[in-house]
Amino acid sequence: MDLRPVGIFDSGLGGLTAVRELQKLLPAEDIVYFGDTKRVPYGGRSIAELEEIALDDTRFMLEHGVKAILVACGTVSSNCLGVVSRTARLPVTGVVVPAAREAVHATKSGRIGVLATVATARSGAFGREIAAMAPDMEVISEGTGELVPLVEAGRTSIDDPGVRAALERCLRPFENGAVDTLILGCTHYPLLAGAISELIGADVKLIDTGAAGARELACLLREAGIECRARKIGSCELFASGDEAEFRRLADVFLA
Ligand code: DGL
Repeated sequence: MDLRPVGIFDSGLGGLTAVRELQKLLPAEDIVYFGDTKRVPYGGRSIAELEEIALDDTRFMLEHGVKAILVACGTVSSNCLGVVSRTARLPVTGVVVPAAREAVHATKSGRIGVLATVATARSGAFGREIAAMAPDMEVISEGTGELVPLVEAGRTSIDDPGVRAALERCLRPFENGAVDTLILGCTHYPLLAGAISELIGADVKLIDTGAAGARELACLLREAGIECRARKIGSCELFASGDEAEFRRLADVFLA
């Protein structure tokens, strides 16, 4: 057993979708969470910028003495996960492989959609992983920069006209039965899952990348024999590079 915390990071609130799941799976684990709200959004950045960011985020985690890292960010996971693994030299997982695996298992039609950030869509990472697992699948991918700023502002309801309009635009490629499974390839998007389901239909299975990443992290901890089995409720320390008070306020709403 290892009592050190696990580290989870993202550009902002999105990675809390992973925290939520990890707290259910391994309630005793202490979590150190970092939201890089000063540099959010990551999704429109170049690979060189993302590599620099990944390095900074990893160093932050190491300074806090974590035993394993979940990169709860689709953009970093798909563009430069190697930077994190090479720097951390700890058990590390991103969200792309676990979410791709869940989608391959979930689909019946063999047509999978990926809604992600522009940088994730550009990387082609989800398509490559799905092709490696199941070469006959069809993948439709769409990148958008519209959704992360809405979520960071706490705007996730379908009754918000801005949310509805943005989602109507980016869900178009997946409509009319084009896919039966949709990977929410950015960890911010599961916070919009209710609104997305309302527009695309409840019969399209949504894959929550944050939750898939948390399940993978739980497996890694067990395999390495470093999960915390103490009889306690773990802590969750929240850090943000921008306005920490505002971040904590929104985080409490999402984690409630
Ligand atoms: N939540 C992140 C992701 O999964 C980052 C989104 C962004 O900052 O653009 O891609």
